[in-house]
Amino acid sequence: MGSGDDDYPSCKRSNKTTQTNYYKLKILLFVILTNLLTMFIFTGPSLPISQNLYIPSRDYTKLLHELNTTKFQLANSRSQISDLQQHLKASNILTKSLLTQLSQLNGAIDQHSSLAALSFGYNDLLADLPSEAKLGIDAHKLPLGYSPRSGSNELYSSVGGGCLRYKEELAKYMTYKIGGECPVDDVFAQRLILKGCEPLPRRRCHPKSPSNYKEPTPLPKSLWTIPPDTSIIWDPYTCKSYKCLVERKKVPGFYDCKDCFDLQGREKSRWLFDNGGQDFGIDKVLNMKPRGTIRIGLDIGGGTGTFAARMKERNVTIITTSMNLDGPFNSFIASRGLIAMHVSVSHRLPFFENTLDIVHSMHILSNWIPETMLEFTFYDIYRVLRPGGIFWLDHFFCLGSQLNATYVPMLDRVGFKKLRWNAGMKLDRGIDKNEWYFSALLEKPVT
Ligand SMILES: *[C@@H]1O[C@H](CO)[C@@H](O)[C@H](O)[C@H]1NC(C)=O
Ligand SMILES: *[C@@H]1O[C@H](CO)[C@@H](O)[C@H](O)[C@H]1NC(C)=O
Ligand SMILES: *[C@@H]1O[C@H](CO)[C@@H](O)[C@H](O)[C@H]1NC(C)=O
Repeated sequence: MGSGDDDYPSCKRSNKTTQTNYYKLKILLFVILTNLLTMFIFTGPSLPISQNLYIPSRDYTKLLHELNTTKFQLANSRSQISDLQQHLKASNILTKSLLTQLSQLNGAIDQHSSLAALSFGYNDLLADLPSEAKLGIDAHKLPLGYSPRSGSNELYSSVGGGCLRYKEELAKYMTYKIGGECPVDDVFAQRLILKGCEPLPRRRCHPKSPSNYKEPTPLPKSLWTIPPDTSIIWDPYTCKSYKCLVERKKVPGFYDCKDCFDLQGREKSRWLFDNGGQDFGIDKVLNMKPRGTIRIGLDIGGGTGTFAARMKERNVTIITTSMNLDGPFNSFIASRGLIAMHVSVSHRLPFFENTLDIVHSMHILSNWIPETMLEFTFYDIYRVLRPGGIFWLDHFFCLGSQLNATYVPMLDRVGFKKLRWNAGMKLDRGIDKNEWYFSALLEKPVT
């Protein structure tokens, strides 16, 4: 902050103090005046008494008369004093209420200036961004005569609050030729999303199209068909073909959802069979509700979309959220004829409350998510589910000690009702590392 900024509040502060001092001074003057008046009243009439006492007097009647007069005057003064005290009390009350009003006024002024500082902060944050970024993010006035339902005649574009924390990267993201081709920066853009810059601002450029794009495979064949390599741009990925993605399960190394692209492998049988443990079968889950009442839902972090594909075969519409980590997951889901959404786990779910019949999530919601954030996520899932809707928490991963201490109480706190609960140690590393999985069917209560 420059010294100019510091001057302003201190200037305001001294102004405030002057006002208060002015009031204090007024009160002081008032008190001194009242005291002087009292002294005058007391001393005024006593002077003739003392003078008269020393005059030798033979006339008692006169003396008595004078005494009587003095007594009368004294009584008079007393009543004047009590009048004055009443006045003083009244003015004290008045002063107090004035001071209260003054402090309220100061509070309002402070609030106003902090609001001003907030909007100043926003403009300041946008200040050194490229003009295209400013245009994309900043407020735009609504046309004249349009009556806004938002209560403001300015419209801001949605942009994640986290974006302004990464200004250099945001500036880079918003640097392109307007109307031209966007930079190929998917990985970079997704890193911004994963850091909390979500949603990203919109851009005025065209994403590059694959050069030999072919029409998609028709439904229902598309659900289990690997699309041609020419349907996407491979630039950011290690693999440059679907064959490579299918076969990467055989090569060592960690990739997100390593065997998910092999539709003839493990994907083919996922959720078809119920093993009575943590692997729940789709049909068994659907049968827990009256036939046909589970119709729409969401799969959070749904890999290549197999859950949505299985549900589509059962006439259930599922939207799949996914990240493109280590592979073109979103394009792959879309090529299967399913809806893919680029939304991270930090994002408020873009659905109305009390609408979805089912929310499913496998592996992704686990103990790697900071506890408080996870609780917000659970509440958000509860929000979008309709009464009686089902949250299928599939293979939640945690340590044995966290299970009963953290996650069971958390789900209870959010208010879910347990329809089914299966917990167990992980087969490979459970015994020595105490690593656990649990799967659960949780219902949003109807009332
Ligand atoms: C004292 O003064 C009052 C009022 O002037 C009068 O009514 C009263 O008679 C006086 N008493 C004497 C003893 O003079
Ligand atoms: C899905 O809907 C179609 C058309 O309404 C119907 O013919 C089919 O039997 C349904 N499939 C299932 C599994 O319910
Ligand atoms: C959690 O609590 C349940 C019921 O109280 C108990 O049966 C189970 O063994 C506990 N699990 C762990 C991992 O401590």
